[in-house]
Amino acid sequence: MLKKSMLFAAALSCMVTFAFTGAAMAAGAGAEVLTLQTAEAKKPAVFTHKKHQDIMKCAECHHIKGADGKQAPLPEGQAPAKCDSCHNATMTNKKVDSFMKAAHENCKGCHTAGYQGKNGPTKCPDCHPAKK
Ligand code: HEC
Ligand code: HEC
Ligand code: HEC
Ligand code: HEC
Repeated sequence: MLKKSMLFAAALSCMVTFAFTGAAMAAGAGAEVLTLQTAEAKKPAVFTHKKHQDIMKCAECHHIKGADGKQAPLPEGQAPAKCDSCHNATMTNKKVDSFMKAAHENCKGCHTAGYQGKNGPTKCPDCHPAKK
């Protein structure tokens, strides 16, 4: 009896997890925590996606390329493309012509300048935790 109810509880918690994942996916919010890396994958970065989504708009990070070749807002309902699909060697703005440069500018830029009075971490291991 006890075993059965425990199994039921386990099954139920699985279902709840699936329901939540499903809801998050339907909203197109992406994973809660992302491991970001370039093709070289020398220094993967841990990124608390959901925590950032909770305090700021998607547009702080996601955008598209406008007709003028500059940044333009991501249209509502459109899934964001990978940063390095644009931020690669073909980009004319050499300040952000790789995933690493675009990420450092975006992430460290805001962490240094601060957002709504809060700063983010800027030391290398804060984003690139040492490999275990
Ligand atoms: C606020 C977060 C953050 C901080 C702080 C940060 N980085 Fe990064 N870094 C990233 C992200 C995001 C990327 C792109 C994804 C990746 O390759 O890890 C990146 C990419 C890189 C890459 C390219 C890795 C590869 O696989 O090719 C190197 C090298 C790097 N960072 C070095 C550093 C060093 C050195 C410091 C400290 C001076 C530092 N980073 C601080 C977020 C950060
Ligand atoms: C602080 C920056 C930031 C904010 C804010 C942000 N994102 Fe992201 N998001 C990223 C980065 C970085 C990636 C990884 C892109 C890559 O791999 O090239 C990403 C990836 C994604 C993905 C790809 C799915 C996945 O799990 O790999 C989706 C979908 C997404 N974001 C949706 C959103 C939505 C919707 C919002 C607003 C509710 C949002 N993001 C807010 C930075 C952000
Ligand atoms: C569809 C193409 C595209 C994608 C995908 C894209 N970007 Fe950009 N991004 C651009 C363009 C175009 C510019 C403007 C470059 C210029 O100044 O000429 C830009 C500019 C930037 C800048 C410089 C902003 C400034 O004000 O100087 C940063 C930082 C940046 N992007 C980070 C990111 C990050 C991080 C991601 C992924 C979450 C991303 N971008 C995804 C096209 C893209
Ligand atoms: C527009 C501002 C902004 C951008 C862009 C941004 N961050 Fe942050 N980040 C913050 C703030 C503010 C905090 C501190 C949150 C707090 O203390 O509650 C933070 C905290 C963090 C932390 C500490 C853990 C946590 O979630 O509190 C990590 C790791 C981090 N950011 C990684 C990144 C990476 C990687 C990127 C780029 C892909 C990025 N951030 C882009 C504002 C930003």
